[in-house]
Formats: sequence, C-alpha cells, structure tokens
Amino acid sequence: MQSSELELARQDLAADRHRLAEIDRVGDAWTLGPRRNERINRHLRAALADAGLASGRVLEVGARAHPRLDVFAATHWTYEVLDIEDGSCDVPVVVGDITDCGELASESYDVIVSVDVFEHINRPWLAAAEIARLLRPGGLSYTSTLFAWRYHPVPIDYWRFTPDCLDFLFSDLTRVDSGFDTTERRRDIRGRGRRDQVPVDALGGFRENWRVFHVGRKPWR
Ligand SMILES: C[S@@+](CC[C@H](N)C(=O)[O-])C[C@H]1O[C@@H](n2cnc3c(N)ncnc32)[C@H](O)[C@@H]1O
Repeated sequence: MQSSELELARQDLAADRHRLAEIDRVGDAWTLGPRRNERINRHLRAALADAGLASGRVLEVGARAHPRLDVFAATHWTYEVLDIEDGSCDVPVVVGDITDCGELASESYDVIVSVDVFEHINRPWLAAAEIARLLRPGGLSYTSTLFAWRYHPVPIDYWRFTPDCLDFLFSDLTRVDSGFDTTERRRDIRGRGRRDQVPVDALGGFRENWRVFHVGRKPWR
C-alpha cells in the first residue's frame, strides 16, 4: 500500500471510530435526565394535580413490582393491584384479568394506572372498556405502553400502540393528554431483558424505544 493510501485508510478508521463514539453518546443521552419511572411518576403526579385529585381509591393494573406505590403512599390514597399473575409483591394483589373483571364494582375507583401492560393484554379494547367502567365519574386513567420496544414476552407480548390508537381505545373517556416519550429512543438495550429473544449482532439490536401514553378522564354525568 502507498503511504498516501495508508494515510487515507487511517483517516477512514478514525472517522468510523468518531461516528461510533457519536452513536454511543446519543444512545447514552437518556441517562442524563430523570429515569423512566421517575418521568412516568412525575407526569402522573402532574395529571393528578391538574385533575384536582389528591385522595381516593387507586387501582394499578399489572403491577407486581408496584413502582407507582410512592406516588400513592400517603394515607389518603388506597392503593390496590390487579394482575393476571400473583407475584413477589408486598402489596396484596387481586388476581384477575383486566379484560374481564366483573368481580370489581363499576365506578369504584378514582384513579386507574397501567404501565407496560397494554402490550401484554390479548384484547386491549376490552381492557380500556373495563377501565372506563371501573372509574367513577371525574376519575382519571393513566396508561403508559409501547410504540416501539424489543420483543419481550411477559408472559406474552402481543401489541404495539400509537397515541391515536390509545385515544380510540379510550374513547369513552375525555382525552386529557396523549403522545410519545422518545427519551430512550437510542438507548442500547441489546441483550438486557431477562426474557429477551431479539438476536444481537455487532451492528445493533433494538434501537428504537418509544413509550406512548394516554391520560383520560371519565366524564361527569
Ligand atoms: C411487563 S409487566 C409490567 C410491570 C409493571 N407494571 C412495571 O411497571 O414494572 C406486565 C404485567 O401485566 C400483567 N398482565 C398481563 N395481562 C394482564 C391482564 N389481562 N390483566 C391483568 N394483568 C395482566 C402481567 O402479569 C405482568 O405483571
């Protein structure tokens, strides 16, 4: 190889390293701000404050790990969990299916929350209808699910959503807010999930992580 060709090859290599470092920098940018649960809890607290809701009965759906508990820790909230599977949770779990939970009384909850659950529900339209039924008039629903994320069967991974889809599913409620959270869009989650079955290679893995949320309110009659 001529020395000038060698120099060009070195420059190409340096440019590649620079590009890869840039990609890593963008991929790590999400670590600079509040973490996921913190962002969700902050958004939920703001929605509760806007709705003037500071006490009442809360149902968190699919919350074996109950990361929302600190939002509702104060004694004027009653926090309950509904999950299709019982788990290692120090909050009592009502084992039930949100798509068909006639055992829970209509209009008996002030707030219903679900985070990372709708993508695991086989018939999410029934879940949205049940949430609308369970909320008392004026009650608030907060749903966070996924538009883009790796395949993660917990126990089964069925769906991905857009804000338009959530607006449609929750059309019995008045829409307060819906949209995307792309903070972790370039987060590198290759091989991170316990049940991750996405193939990983040197160039990538799953690199589009978009959360999608919907906040709705049951109309007063
Ligand atoms: C990925 S986990 C979500 C964990 C939790 N919400 C969090 O933020 O860490 C999904 C949960 O939804 C539950 N689930 C799935 N289908 C359900 C259904 N039809 N009714 C109630 N819970 C369901 C699963 O058992 C699981 O606990």
